[in-house]
Amino acid sequence: MGSRDWELPQLVRRYRIPMGAALEIRNLHVNVEDQPILKGVNLIVRQGEVHALMGPNGSGKSTLSNAIMGHPAYEVTAGQIIFGGVDILDMEPDERSRLGLFMAFQYPIAIPGVTVANFLRNALNARRRAANPEDKGIPIPAFRKLMIEKMDMLRMDHEFAGRYLNDGFSGGEKKRAEVLQMAVLEPQIAIMDETDSGLDIDALRVVSEGVNTLYSSNLGVLVITHYQRILNYIKPQFVHIMMDGQIVESGGPDLALHLEEHGYDWLREKQNGNGK
Ligand SMILES: Nc1ncnc2c1ncn2[C@@H]1O[C@H](COP(=O)(O)OP(=O)(O)OP(=O)(O)O)[C@@H](O)[C@H]1O
Ligand SMILES: [Mg+2]
Repeated sequence: MGSRDWELPQLVRRYRIPMGAALEIRNLHVNVEDQPILKGVNLIVRQGEVHALMGPNGSGKSTLSNAIMGHPAYEVTAGQIIFGGVDILDMEPDERSRLGLFMAFQYPIAIPGVTVANFLRNALNARRRAANPEDKGIPIPAFRKLMIEKMDMLRMDHEFAGRYLNDGFSGGEKKRAEVLQMAVLEPQIAIMDETDSGLDIDALRVVSEGVNTLYSSNLGVLVITHYQRILNYIKPQFVHIMMDGQIVESGGPDLALHLEEHGYDWLREKQNGNGK
């Protein structure tokens, strides 16, 4: 926790991230190891909306999500990231998450020695304290009840709660654990980076149903994916395509179907036709 930890409750009270808050990416430029990766990304995700972000390997999708969450390796050289009207660029990653942003990672890391239950309870309490500095933390029985309810929703074995986070989890189990965090923390805006990859067909449906339950209670989601498949379950209103660090095309759900059928070449040609 940074030295600005004590400031956060004031920050939240001062700005009061409102219901219906939007995440706004304005002309975002990001360098990784001094290489420009994002070259002017514009995107608005509101609570209660589902956006899909697609695009070829290496086009910058994970870079965008890492920059939104404040990963230190991703240097924002221009542009803004606004959440609920507040510029979050100077905030630490944990501050951003306590404000109600959540990211399900493409490659979740293991935390040996920290159980799923402990991790979730700490994260939830940090988030509650950000909203109300006087919050004493969720009582353990209430937390257990909440966690079991969410695990049942995601059809996870209860023994998961006692396992070390992601330690020895299968690919699909890691993805479920990410969605469990999301279900417990109830963020306003969630970014899911290839949560569908590695899920078997049944797990994909269960996890998607879980996300849809959260979505109906006013979550905004950015689903990063390569395949139309998950979009059959988590139905986006908006589909965006990233190429070479920019969003080059936006449309409705049809755009994902079109990509599935035609690939990216038509877009590359269109880009070249634009004199690129
Ligand atoms: N931490 C990093 N260190 C070095 N290079 C990076 C780092 N993160 C991203 N890059 C580079 O930035 C470019 C974009 O990568 P990014 O992971 O954002 O692509 P992506 O669209 O998520 O691709 P994929 O579909 O394969 O997940 C790549 O060339 C990648 O090598
Ligand atoms: Mg990626």
